[in-house]
Amino acid sequence: MLRSCGKKLLLSLLGSMLTCFLVLVVDQQRGQVLSLGGGGPGLLLQPFDSGRDAAAAADGAQGLLRQLRAAGSAGQSFQEIRSFTDYFTKLTRGKREAERSPAGGGSPEAPRPPLEQLAPRDVFIAVKTTKKFHQSRMQLLLDTWISRNKDMTFVFTDGEDPELKTRTANVINTNCSAAHSRQALSCKMAVEYDKFIESGRKWFCHVDDDNYVNVRMLLKLLSSYPHTQDIYIGKPSLDRPIQATERISESQMHPVHFWFATGGAGFCISRGLALKMSPWASGGHFMSTAEMIRLPDDCTIGYIIESVLGVKLTRSNLFHSHLENLHQVPKSEIHNQVTLSYGMFENNRNAIHMKGAFSVEEDPSRFRSIHCLLYPDTPWCPQNVAY
Ligand SMILES: *[C@@H]1O[C@H](CO)[C@@H](O)[C@H](O)[C@H]1NC(C)=O
Repeated sequence: MLRSCGKKLLLSLLGSMLTCFLVLVVDQQRGQVLSLGGGGPGLLLQPFDSGRDAAAAADGAQGLLRQLRAAGSAGQSFQEIRSFTDYFTKLTRGKREAERSPAGGGSPEAPRPPLEQLAPRDVFIAVKTTKKFHQSRMQLLLDTWISRNKDMTFVFTDGEDPELKTRTANVINTNCSAAHSRQALSCKMAVEYDKFIESGRKWFCHVDDDNYVNVRMLLKLLSSYPHTQDIYIGKPSLDRPIQATERISESQMHPVHFWFATGGAGFCISRGLALKMSPWASGGHFMSTAEMIRLPDDCTIGYIIESVLGVKLTRSNLFHSHLENLHQVPKSEIHNQVTLSYGMFENNRNAIHMKGAFSVEEDPSRFRSIHCLLYPDTPWCPQNVAY
């Protein structure tokens, strides 16, 4: 009696030790995935997740995405992965919080060694704008990050503006409609693509007119990847692949799912990959590809790269759109980020939260303060200011 009881006790002890060991092993692996910036379902654990769904709902693609979701796009396997991940999220929460950078969020990505030296003229930064925003948005960018990087920067707009052309040389009137429609946006992306191919440069980067580009970090990031290989890098705005339908013909439809980098945070494509995209992106082809899947410009880029060419999106948390809570970027990490933004998020004003050279009233986007933080030698930055 006593012996069998002892046996049972021993067995249950062994059993719980084994369980404990397994949990620790999985926990360890989770931690590794996280510190690498995560991939696949690991993405669910990334610090900037909160509000990503809300973000997606507010995206330009909003109605569409909602429709796609409502159509039961999240597959069963995804649900399983999600609950499994939720479980381990709870288990690792304490550990994660301990590992996070002090202000929470903005977990630094593992530094990659440089592969090739990049000169500013190797990179083509396309800034998408519209005539309505030449004053309010473009002036701010021209005063700040573009002023130091005019050779790299190409402004794509939809109306003639002699004044804008006096501020920077590379202004391209796309002749696309000024509407914020899917077709108008795809029309601009198509011109951006063609101008990049024509330029012969090594990297194509697309940003919006509400993005601040930290060019020093952009060059550092891109120089760690070979431009001749297939590289597509940016931040997904959703926590799952987007589901869409390819219209092969009037009667033939084909479901596809793929990841895409949100255009509002900016993304980059290597020349090697851009050249492969040509049959679906050059000339008028980008517009017809976008029509075929009926998705906005940034989704169409993701479709061509992931779905057609089978190249995976490289995720980076260093790109930021106004559709995420920008308060989560700690001031100590600002100089490490590649893009920043400002705007509205969930009906609140959204911007980088920092004390800086200028007050929030003087500098609501915080871009001038950020610029003075990164380049204190700028003539209009107040000297000897202790932040
Ligand atoms: C837009 O139209 C003008 C005038 O016709 C032309 O010179 C220019 O090349 C066009 N832009 C593009 C990107 O096609």
